[in-house]
Amino acid sequence: MIKAFVVGHPIKHSRSPLIHGYWLKRYGIDGSYERIDVAPVDLDEFLVALWPLGFVGGNVTIPHKEAVFEFLDNNKTERAQRVGAVNTLWYEDEGIELWGDNTDGLGFIANLNQNLGTGWDQYVENVLVIGAGGAARGIVASLQDHPLKRILVANRTISKAEELVRDLERYGRVTLEALAWDDLDNALARSQLIVNTTSLGMAGQPPLLLDLEKVPDDAIVSDIVYVPLRTPLLAAAEARGLRTVDGLGMLLHQAVPGFERWFGVRPEVTPELRALIVADIEGPS
Ligand code: ATR
Repeated sequence: MIKAFVVGHPIKHSRSPLIHGYWLKRYGIDGSYERIDVAPVDLDEFLVALWPLGFVGGNVTIPHKEAVFEFLDNNKTERAQRVGAVNTLWYEDEGIELWGDNTDGLGFIANLNQNLGTGWDQYVENVLVIGAGGAARGIVASLQDHPLKRILVANRTISKAEELVRDLERYGRVTLEALAWDDLDNALARSQLIVNTTSLGMAGQPPLLLDLEKVPDDAIVSDIVYVPLRTPLLAAAEARGLRTVDGLGMLLHQAVPGFERWFGVRPEVTPELRALIVADIEGPS
């Protein structure tokens, strides 16, 4: 049996086991994918023990993505190097070398492609990314590989947006600019793609309130929050007649590269998988 895991602290709310469990069943693979709760102080010990425990790899989630990045030295994809965090682990050479990747940005782009068609980057010139945390880094790093003109990064704490821009601007030709939170409304009028990467709008958090009147009619509004699926931001964008892309697709698509590495099949993000996770989000918790 092929064994994979997701490690985090806490981990009980992770939906990754549902996703990988669905694919294991769908492709008839003799494998397992389990949640493992590891406290930060025990992380290195856990990582050293992975191969002896019989794991071929796994996912890494909050709060361990940056610590795993440090643990791996040079065994990281160029993508992970750019982002500074790892969410997917696997072994090369029969347990000799543990490698890490960051698939968050890939998941974000694959979700846009699935919802909008792959040509979206032909008409999007200016992107507004709201937030400058780990998720924003992954998303900006992936957007940089597209033929865009400019990515504005707005954050409540502007120094974090400036740091993100400083770290990533050397990669690719897209202009990156940090933006103060107070200038958000002005930037909306110039943006064809608006992405919320903050926790605003998540169940239990205040909503992200933007003045969408100024946004171009052909703009796309996307949220990485997926609980609830239809965030106040997406609801407002729909009411304004804009196209929207919700956050669940990113979660599903970021899981694809890991599954393929561990279990040898490139899995499909199907409507059935989406419905399974939607039922879990909307069901009794
Ligand atoms: P993630 O890895 O999911 O991106 P994170 O690194 O903790 O999580 O980043 C959270 C993001 O949400 C940050 O951009 C944060 O802004 P600050 O850098 O100013 O903290 C943003 N955020 C969280 N709560 C917010 C709030 N109430 N208003 C505005 N931004 C908020």
